[in-house]
Amino acid sequence: MGRFPLEPLLQRLLSPWGLAIAAALLLLVLCLRARRTRRPGEPPLIQGWLPYIGMALEVRKDPIGFMRTLQKQHGDTFTLFLGGKYITFILDPYQYHLVMKNHKLSFQQFSNDILRKVFSIQKLMTNDHLNNELHDCYQHLQGKSLDVLLENLMQNLGQVFEARLFKTTDWNTTHLLTFCSSVIFEATFTTIFGKFVAGDRAKLITELKDDFLKFDAKLMHLLSDIPTHLLGNAKSIQKKLIKHLTSENLAKIQGWSEVVQVRQDILEKHYAFTDFEIGAHHLGFLWASVANTIPSMVWTIYYILRHPEAMAVLRDEIDHLQESTGQKRGSGFSIHITREQLDSLVYLESAVLEALRLCSFSSIIRFIEEELTLPSETQDYLLRKGDLLAIFPPIMHYDPEIFEAPEEYRFDRFVENGKKKTIFFKRGKRLKYYLLPFGLGTSKCPGRFFAVNEIKQLLVVLLTYFDLEIIDDKPIQLDYSRFLFGIQYPDSDVLFRYKVKS
Ligand code: HEM
Repeated sequence: MGRFPLEPLLQRLLSPWGLAIAAALLLLVLCLRARRTRRPGEPPLIQGWLPYIGMALEVRKDPIGFMRTLQKQHGDTFTLFLGGKYITFILDPYQYHLVMKNHKLSFQQFSNDILRKVFSIQKLMTNDHLNNELHDCYQHLQGKSLDVLLENLMQNLGQVFEARLFKTTDWNTTHLLTFCSSVIFEATFTTIFGKFVAGDRAKLITELKDDFLKFDAKLMHLLSDIPTHLLGNAKSIQKKLIKHLTSENLAKIQGWSEVVQVRQDILEKHYAFTDFEIGAHHLGFLWASVANTIPSMVWTIYYILRHPEAMAVLRDEIDHLQESTGQKRGSGFSIHITREQLDSLVYLESAVLEALRLCSFSSIIRFIEEELTLPSETQDYLLRKGDLLAIFPPIMHYDPEIFEAPEEYRFDRFVENGKKKTIFFKRGKRLKYYLLPFGLGTSKCPGRFFAVNEIKQLLVVLLTYFDLEIIDDKPIQLDYSRFLFGIQYPDSDVLFRYKVKS
């Protein structure tokens, strides 16, 4: 009997390729062994076989279709493994309140983790007073403070447009996302943080905007668990932006809004004046005030431009308001519009809300601090400490039982008999929540009134002064790379043109 040829086999196994394959197999076995098994009483578990990534690729391809399939298979509550996290999704809108009132669920813990990763804010992890004080000062985004903000915003929009757009009466062709990013960034930054007093203002704001957009594009990388040294220039852009917003540099900007002044006072109580982290807090606030408004504006204009019937009704509504308040379109920028007047533009508001319904893929996420039982009409579920729980409103936004033909943009969906429509039903019962682009409960967006009014103001300006046309015929789609985090960007930019009305 011949000898078994062991030597060549060993040689192959010990070659670099052999070792790499062995290491990969070992890693696969370890990952498969580390997979979770569903315990009795826990929600159905869908984890896929890809280590860390789990089901993320399937979800991002077609979030609504995928979640609907899972809903049919497993019901309204199930746990998905996504990006290294076990997230239990709640799809039934009648269950939302159970999440909101459960004190074993924490928003703070979840959001502090994000603030640390994305903005390098460390102190909130250990300082509850700072947390609470910063949270309390969001009241300066409402009431009288909001009136002041909106008045300043309209003036700033006036300056943005007078400087750039009233120079020519010819058609200007540009990309919609580029246009909205530039206008929203400049108008919002100037309204909230003020104006640069020295140097070339236009150049400074453009540089800041460009860095901000580069930073924003890296957001999901910063949020992931990818080691910092593999993130390319994400960290250096983040540092550059933070530096612009440190106490010393903020002092070079004039006309801070009340909310920024109060935040700076609070931050100076908890940090040394020169502490770099003060700038990190301001970057977090700047990001919140701009990042979702830009794509919301893009989608709203895009849908209006693609729906001439919407454009006609909105122009009519705005003209009517301006006539009834004695405002005439002169040669310069001269729009005065109060919050009450903006509020009375129900078709305009509906056109904005309808875009938010279609494009918001935010989830309301909580960290599970202790093991708990989540009751439901059909079955109670055990949830594990350390996992995440997510209310997922997009499935409600696209529910045909609540919104007829949910895939369609219907600009007047939120108007009934000339008034705001706020009553929607599911399973024959009136829904308490039917549109949640701004979150819910303690984490609900404090800037929501500013945001919707900002979009409305910009639309009033555009529809009052300009003729607008979409040029590209190719429809744009949602790019789901920010799935779970806010308004989705379009998958490509789209050309449009505008010209001052003759
Ligand atoms: C259309 C535009 C906007 C959308 C869709 C939006 C959406 C949201 C959502 C969903 C959250 C909650 C996040 C969570 O639960 O983790 C949030 C939080 C927040 N938003 Fe907005 N937002 C918008 C505009 C604004 C604006 C203009 C401001 C400020 C002027 C702002 C300030 C904030 C702040 C400070 C938070 C954090 C609140 C906290 O930590 O409790 N947002 N936003």
